[in-house]
Amino acid sequence: MSTDHFAEVERIIQEIQSFPLEDATSLEPFRLQFLGSKSQLKPLLAAIGQVEAAQRKAYGLRVNQARQLAEETYALAKERFGSASENVGPIPDLGLPALSLVQGRRHPISQVMDRILEIFGRIGFSVVEDREVEDEWHNFTALNTPDDHPARDMQDTYYLRDFPGRLLRTHSSSVQSRYMTKHQPPIRILAPGRVYRNETISARSHCQFHQVEGLYIDQGVSMADLRQTLLFFAREMFGKDARIRLRPSYFPFTEPSAEMDIYWGLRDETDHRITKGTGWLEILGCGMVDPAVLQNCGIDPERYSGFAFGMGIERQAMLRYKVPDIRYFFENDLRFLRQF
Ligand code: DAH
Repeated sequence: MSTDHFAEVERIIQEIQSFPLEDATSLEPFRLQFLGSKSQLKPLLAAIGQVEAAQRKAYGLRVNQARQLAEETYALAKERFGSASENVGPIPDLGLPALSLVQGRRHPISQVMDRILEIFGRIGFSVVEDREVEDEWHNFTALNTPDDHPARDMQDTYYLRDFPGRLLRTHSSSVQSRYMTKHQPPIRILAPGRVYRNETISARSHCQFHQVEGLYIDQGVSMADLRQTLLFFAREMFGKDARIRLRPSYFPFTEPSAEMDIYWGLRDETDHRITKGTGWLEILGCGMVDPAVLQNCGIDPERYSGFAFGMGIERQAMLRYKVPDIRYFFENDLRFLRQF
């Protein structure tokens, strides 16, 4: 009797190994035959007790090996085909062409901005960001811009109707006063961001645009430091041979004030047009921070001095990528954006 049991187990092992498990539909017959409550192995397992004592251990081992083999074979096949109850359907055609991924990219304004931040980052400027909805004090008063200054006029500045004294910042210089009231020198920051002015929208100007503001305050900072910093920037941004000039100008928050031009050249008609025939192109406003501004923000002007500058981003992006109309930057037309 026990020899029969042994032979029976061996036969089932053979059957398990040769069972045609070819697809999901063969899973269930396999399970019924070797694992279910009516499986062929069940009576053989139950028979362990009947086997004579000398062979019981060897038999028990073998019949359990058979059970394990059935379980593992089933589990592997199930993994391969999915469970029997699921309707597996036809095998997908793996030869289909893949969907092409449309890759996103940085907006050209962000690309120019990143470049500027990276250049100044190399000489120790860190990036500070602040709010776009400002109060009059941080945007104007602290920056020495008197109440009757034309920039405050409703025609230039967007005031918020429901929030008296609040406005959309007209320049990134507002971050200067925000930062200086909270930090003491040394200060070496760059403030990028969006600014708003009530301008008529045209190919050359928009009611929203981007600026990067720079501010450096420490002991003994001079105009020479300003010039050298800006020259470094111009060379990194526009090439090693870039030439700059500082022209005297006026801003309420700097004294003295200047505008920086870079030499653009006069190669073709467009160069003549954008440089008004001079070859020089204005890139930014700058100057030594007015002592009154330092005072307003709680920094001792007897001890500290510094410089500031502010530059527009759209202008630089237009030059760099030869974009003829500022409005393209804000329309989010993918045909435009995909070119960068
Ligand atoms: N805020 C000025 C503007 O929007 C630009 C500017 C000029 C910023 C001189 C400065 C500066 O920090 O020193 O036109």
